[in-house]
Amino acid sequence: MSDPRRELRVALLGQGFMGKAHSNAFAQVSRFFDVPFRLRLSVLCGRDQQALERSAAAWGWEQTATDWRQVVERPDIDLIDIALPNHLHSEAAIAAARAGKIVLCEKPLANTVKEAKAMVEAARNVPTMVWFNYRRVPAIAYAKRLIDEGRVGQVFHYRGTYQQQWGTDTNRPLTWKMDPEQAGHGVVGDLLSHAVDLALYLNGAIEQVTALTRTFAPGRAVEDAVESLATFANGSIGTLEATRFGVGSRNGNSFEVQGAKGMLRFHLEDMNKLEFFDATDGAPLQGVRSLLVTDAQHPYGTNFWRPGHIIGYEHTFIAALADFLFSLSRDEQFHPNFEDGLRVQEVLDAVLQSAHSRRWEGIPT
Ligand SMILES: NC(=O)c1ccc[n+]([C@@H]2O[C@H](COP(=O)([O-])OP(=O)(O)OC[C@H]3O[C@@H](n4cnc5c(N)ncnc54)[C@H](O)[C@@H]3O)[C@@H](O)[C@H]2O)c1
Repeated sequence: MSDPRRELRVALLGQGFMGKAHSNAFAQVSRFFDVPFRLRLSVLCGRDQQALERSAAAWGWEQTATDWRQVVERPDIDLIDIALPNHLHSEAAIAAARAGKIVLCEKPLANTVKEAKAMVEAARNVPTMVWFNYRRVPAIAYAKRLIDEGRVGQVFHYRGTYQQQWGTDTNRPLTWKMDPEQAGHGVVGDLLSHAVDLALYLNGAIEQVTALTRTFAPGRAVEDAVESLATFANGSIGTLEATRFGVGSRNGNSFEVQGAKGMLRFHLEDMNKLEFFDATDGAPLQGVRSLLVTDAQHPYGTNFWRPGHIIGYEHTFIAALADFLFSLSRDEQFHPNFEDGLRVQEVLDAVLQSAHSRRWEGIPT
């Protein structure tokens, strides 16, 4: 039987860690979500032909390519997905948008605010998405719902922390992530970008920040750690931190929100759980509840497995892609899009400026 859904021909630029996560999402999305498009995995683009052929066979890509510039110009491609090192995001996204493609891009959107603004400008008339995939962790989407329903009340404190420990290994081979030319920055672009995106998503606009950065490894050209204080437009204050020297944390992306009516706490290493403290309970009953966010009434609760049958990292990419495709079919703005990516970039820029100036730095409204 023929499939009446519109076909979207996809080209994925980058076949590394995120190339795999995105390939899985493209391959799986219509198995878990009733998406209104038929995705055709047309082209996988990278640099190593042998590795490309292996990945293409594993994930079902029809063709491979090694020149991303040619790929973004191809008339038989509708959607370009960018999972390249950071320094290539702006050039590839701008070329793809000018060629009229739908553009998906990994985080951080760019290496500078200037680049991010040029990307927003170029992509004004095409649908965009930034892969801030953690917004689609069911427990985080549920935290957002509880905040919007007023279950936390007026927020006083927001703490966002992203810790990994691999930076302590000074014998690790140098990759693009340690090269300022390619990565732009160290942990600020890599991990703080996620923490900032979640802060903006859950707690709204940031007004100003003060920050310091530190490089612990001798001779390393990018910062290993960042600590920042922030004030939010809703009157709350907070801390945002990220480190590659977070010994004991493999991928410790966490946050805590404290308000007049309650508290929410999340840690990615236990990603199916959300902690909630309801301060409106009578004192004898007050205590932190540990919610297993896998129920049918929870976000994405009917898309994956039955209650209690937990999900993992890869599902966040599948859910993000599904939401994007639903927005696309309804001709609605998806979030996070390139403008949201620019907002994150503005905060990161202010953090880096403050680490340099040693002053509070404002974020454009
Ligand atoms: N959303 C997340 O949680 C998350 C996690 C990790 C990385 N990222 C982001 O994803 C992006 C890619 O990171 P990664 O960890 O997958 O990196 P990676 O090093 O594993 O993969 C990068 C890929 O880009 C390819 N590449 C590099 N230059 C190229 C060129 N000129 N032409 C074609 N291909 C080229 C490489 O061959 C490789 O396949 C980065 O922007 C990173 O910040 C996001």
